[in-house]
Amino acid sequence: MPRNDEFLLRLREANPIETVMGNYVNLVRRGRNYVCNCPFHSEKTPSCYIYLGADPHFYCFGCGAGGDVITFIMKMENLTFTEAVNFLAQRAGLEVPHKDPKEAARARLKTRIYEMNRLAANFYYKNLVSGPDKSGLKYFADRKLTPATIKKYGLGFAPNSWNSLTDYLRSKGYTDDEIVAGWLGGSKNGRVFDMFRNRVMFPIVDTRGNIIGFGGRVLDDSKPKYLNTGDTPVFYKGSNLFSLNFAKNSNTKRMILCEGYMDVIAVNQAGFENVVATLGTAITPEQARLMSHYAEEIIIAYDSDGAGQKATRKAINHFEDVGLRTKIIHMEGAKDPDEFIKKFGPNRFRILLDGSDDANAYLLAKCEEGLDLATDAGKVEVLKRAANVLAAIESPLEREVYISRTSKRTGIDVQVLKNHIDQMLRARKKNLKKSEWRNITSAAYQKDPINPESALHRKESRAEETIICYLLRHPDDAQRMAKEAPPEIFLTPFNKKVYTALLDRMSGGDRFSLSLLADEFSPDEMGRISGIDAKNREFTIDSTVAADCVKVLKEYKSPAGDQLSDEDLSDLFRSKISK
Ligand code: GTP
Ligand code: MN
Repeated sequence: MPRNDEFLLRLREANPIETVMGNYVNLVRRGRNYVCNCPFHSEKTPSCYIYLGADPHFYCFGCGAGGDVITFIMKMENLTFTEAVNFLAQRAGLEVPHKDPKEAARARLKTRIYEMNRLAANFYYKNLVSGPDKSGLKYFADRKLTPATIKKYGLGFAPNSWNSLTDYLRSKGYTDDEIVAGWLGGSKNGRVFDMFRNRVMFPIVDTRGNIIGFGGRVLDDSKPKYLNTGDTPVFYKGSNLFSLNFAKNSNTKRMILCEGYMDVIAVNQAGFENVVATLGTAITPEQARLMSHYAEEIIIAYDSDGAGQKATRKAINHFEDVGLRTKIIHMEGAKDPDEFIKKFGPNRFRILLDGSDDANAYLLAKCEEGLDLATDAGKVEVLKRAANVLAAIESPLEREVYISRTSKRTGIDVQVLKNHIDQMLRARKKNLKKSEWRNITSAAYQKDPINPESALHRKESRAEETIICYLLRHPDDAQRMAKEAPPEIFLTPFNKKVYTALLDRMSGGDRFSLSLLADEFSPDEMGRISGIDAKNREFTIDSTVAADCVKVLKEYKSPAGDQLSDEDLSDLFRSKISK
């Protein structure tokens, strides 16, 4: 891919990393730099550092995310390198000079699909509110949606026709290929037809306000009930949420998760802005992480039927993994939030939200399902199930609370229950220790997916990283280094690739920026490169240290008696701590 280094440097300067990151996270000054809670993993104390200075970049000591402003935007907005460059160029009002033709075509198709989606949404909306066929409007009215809600969500109606939308889009200059690529049309025997027909339409909008796809519902009981846009270059079901564009702006740290589009809209219309749904699939870890950017607590309001409850359990796990508190709504007398609000009104729904069980209470209550606490056999089974839930509670304080609750509920002595759980925990810890040890000894190789060979050459890869670090701080010394220490002396492939790329980018002149690497290295790899620098912050790495490391590498090739050991190397570092 052709690079335009001059432009990337300008782009970086026009987008100060602290300003860009400040739009997403709260930055706190620390000395010459900034710290913040890492937006890429859940944490309560900040471990993400933003280093200003000649080559501004960030690094999170918690999860290893890191890189320059382009990497940050790639990760944060889920964009490719080129898209991130466009995003930042637009932000700063810069013109992107030239692109790789294939990338350019891809980017153009995406833009075209966004445009078509917007036109289609307008078309469906107009057809709903003022078209000749009133059945869509009647459908929404029957479901008690107000005109304001219809407008807010841009709901629409796809006419009962095979070619209305496709003809309209063609008249606006879109090709059949584009229409099919955007999933607005299907094609059979070379003929293109409207994909959505005689359905009420729900546009799906991303957090930047782009219409990325649609859900379309039949007006009666026919199947399939919903048709959702398939995978297109702009629509990934697993990484977006319906109504997140509204929910992200609500000023609460809570987010309600429903199963269906209609539930979300009913809850929103009842006055709760902080509500989302997945796009017709089970919730993914990625969606859970996305929600954690905007909320601290999730209230799951899935349907009260069996499928909904099964999905609830799965969702609880995903939320726990990303550190979100989870509560579960307990709905009686209605199958879903939409029906509940219609039957009992918004106030009762609010009471429901406030009275929602936390995940542990929910799981404990589920332990009693189908069993009779009045019988001994039932009690034993309930306790067995409950013990598993209790032993999985991480916070000792919380565990204590639920142990005492369970003891009251089942009538078993609290001390007996507590001893039992403690025993389980000890056994688990022992197992964990064993498996951890196994991980360290045998699976070390798999532990570093970015540079797996580092486990086999610990000393050498450390020397390599020190050389990389030296170069990052002394780009002016690149030419000398290229002669003294050619990339061939590097042992581990990833470090070699980084070193080669650095020498390449630095050979031209004096200016260097991590941004010049972002097109060649993935965000994860950029994180590693930033980490090499960040982890060595307190060390002075001068040409003497670099020379020692070069020696380590050269001597590996021709082993001699006086190699530096790992310990020697760390002594060397310690003696070089700067003040
Ligand atoms: P109503 O029945 O109108 O209240 O719709 P709902 O939004 O409450 O839907 P429901 O609870 O039946 O399903 C939840 C979600 O699953 C929907 O919003 C859709 O995203 C998805 N879904 C439901 N039925 C289908 C289907 O037939 N096909 C696909 N692809 N998705 C479906
Ligand atoms: Mn429903």
